[in-house]
Amino acid sequence: MNAWVDPRDVVALCEAILIVYRNHGLRANRQKSRLMWLIDEWGMDTFRVAVEKHLGYPLPTAADKDEILWDKRDHIGIHAQKQPGLNYVGLHVPVGRLYAPDMFDLARIAEVYGSGELRLTVEQNVIIPNVPDSRIAPLLKEPLLERFSVAPAPLMRSLVSCTGAQFCNFALIETKNRALAMIRELENELHVSRPVRIHWTGCPNSCGQPQVADIGLMGTKTRKNGKAVDGVDLYMGGTVGKHARLGECVQKGIPCEDLKPVLRDLLIQHFGAQLKSELSGAPANLHVTGLDEIGVGSNLPERSIAQGASPSPATLSSASFATATTIAATLGFAKSGQEISCTEQDLILEVAEQHEVAIDSSCRSGTCGTCKQKLVEGTVRYAGEPVALNDQEQAAGMILTCIAHPVGQVVIDA
Ligand code: SF4
Ligand code: FES
Repeated sequence: MNAWVDPRDVVALCEAILIVYRNHGLRANRQKSRLMWLIDEWGMDTFRVAVEKHLGYPLPTAADKDEILWDKRDHIGIHAQKQPGLNYVGLHVPVGRLYAPDMFDLARIAEVYGSGELRLTVEQNVIIPNVPDSRIAPLLKEPLLERFSVAPAPLMRSLVSCTGAQFCNFALIETKNRALAMIRELENELHVSRPVRIHWTGCPNSCGQPQVADIGLMGTKTRKNGKAVDGVDLYMGGTVGKHARLGECVQKGIPCEDLKPVLRDLLIQHFGAQLKSELSGAPANLHVTGLDEIGVGSNLPERSIAQGASPSPATLSSASFATATTIAATLGFAKSGQEISCTEQDLILEVAEQHEVAIDSSCRSGTCGTCKQKLVEGTVRYAGEPVALNDQEQAAGMILTCIAHPVGQVVIDA
């Protein structure tokens, strides 16, 4: 927003932003219920004016020079506070997974050794502040610190993961358990001298923020040997802190079972990792794929239906629709009894949402299957590959409404 905010005004500013979002955000539409969509619709200038109106004064513009000199820190380890004799202790919680007994234990430790306070970090770790010098040694002997270390290995240290399929209904893949297993294997094979921020997220909702990671992994469904399998889209180049910028997707649809060698190569070629087998002089028997071979750095083509499942009689390939521009179509909803005029360029899910016909959705890219509906009548054309449909479902007339366009007159069972 190019705004300068005095520390004393931060709470009021946050409140103003929340109120503007509460009053104007697209909260009825689950897919668009985020601040970024309001800003996308309004533009930053309109958003700023609305926030200033709630604050009651105009925000000054940002300072010419950024005077903050420090880089982003993860707070893990033992650090002296500015109050003499006190320390804060950052514990690493692997992929942020805390069970109830761990939480009780943390609360006890904070009371015994600190001031009863716990703080959480954006990397999913825990800080115990206000620990006197005299209590550091006994704190470090607590059994919990064998799992929640003050000195984790470099790759584990910066590993972040969203909830994933174990506990999240939106997930396209499992993340936390997979991320942990993979990082342990990579730590076994590689010597890495500095933390590398690897972020996993189970679906495009991006709770694990792959765009700010050194290496970001976003869950998707992809195809291997003709079958739909768990996969990831690979993001690279995200930075946080002083020169923050978002990373970019450099490769799509890597099957999870093929991911480890890809990560190993990235760590060796971009982050100074070395194979332990080579360091110890033992013969290396690992195949290291070159970056060019895996396509990192090049923008690979998006999936197309030509690579995917064979279309059922009710679906057409994108190619066969290439000439259809703004041809009128009719979309009927059998359950709600509505019949809507639209065009063959509209997506069925979007038409349904505009007319308040309830269809759940998540990925909106044909990969999760949430928006699946039965096609009662007519033909649809897909804008991408319907990865989330298996052959039986296609034969049974199921369609993915998020990527399906109606062709002529279509009725679905919604
Ligand atoms: S990114 Fe997707 S899978 Fe992960 S927690 Fe968020 S909604 Fe769930
Ligand atoms: S919303 Fe995921 S396949 Fe349509």
